[in-house]
Amino acid sequence: MEFKEVLEARYSCRAFLPEAVSDEVIRELVAASQRIPTWGNTQPGKVYAVSGAKAHALRIDLTAAATAGQDENPDIPMPQGFEGRLMDRYRALGKSLFKVLGIGRDDREKRREHYTNNFNAFGAPTLVYFTVPDRQSPYVIMDVGAMVSTFCLAAADQGLGTCVIAALARYPDAVRTRLAIPDDEKIVIGVALGHPDPAAEVNRFRSAREELDEVLRVLS
Ligand SMILES: Cc1cc2nc3c(=O)[nH]c(=O)nc-3n(C[C@H](O)[C@H](O)[C@H](O)COP(=O)(O)O)c2cc1C
Repeated sequence: MEFKEVLEARYSCRAFLPEAVSDEVIRELVAASQRIPTWGNTQPGKVYAVSGAKAHALRIDLTAAATAGQDENPDIPMPQGFEGRLMDRYRALGKSLFKVLGIGRDDREKRREHYTNNFNAFGAPTLVYFTVPDRQSPYVIMDVGAMVSTFCLAAADQGLGTCVIAALARYPDAVRTRLAIPDDEKIVIGVALGHPDPAAEVNRFRSAREELDEVLRVLS
């Protein structure tokens, strides 16, 4: 695909087919994500990909923890809320997404079901975790963020679906155990990877973007 087509093709996929993604393809996507710039070429990011029975077991662990209301202890503190325009956009996303999912404002049960489905990686056959070394500059998060984005774009280029899912990093102990992630690495985020379910209405949802002039000032 042309670069612009890849940018258009990527979206957060929230329903997957069970069909696996081969290890060879996963290797290609991660190799693409390594092409990003990093501070001083330090390349702090590491990637752990898990599929099959192990991924299934991890999705069950995470879903069980969420369902039981277990205390979350993410390696990197997660936002407790947003302010101003950020909060407006955050709310607008939730509203549009719930509309597409056919979940009413007061339907607590369905909302909870959808929230729990995050921990199941929306049924994705592969979970891909990105980590950074502990005790380094906060800029390592920027570097690994670039890696995550490039990974998602590379997947879109192959017709695959991805969703960056904060929920997958809310219970790092389960992830660390299942994926043998060392204690001196911080789990930043998990990404769901797989073939998008073409029949799922939610996969037709596209999020809005701010007007360019709200974001950009060209100074002369
Ligand atoms: C750090 C991060 C965490 C996210 N966590 C979640 C999540 O827990 N659940 C979810 O459905 N989407 C999650 N997303 C996806 C965003 O909602 C999505 O990227 C945003 O709404 C823009 O939509 P798009 O990816 O379809 O372009 C996350 C994205 C990022 C970058």
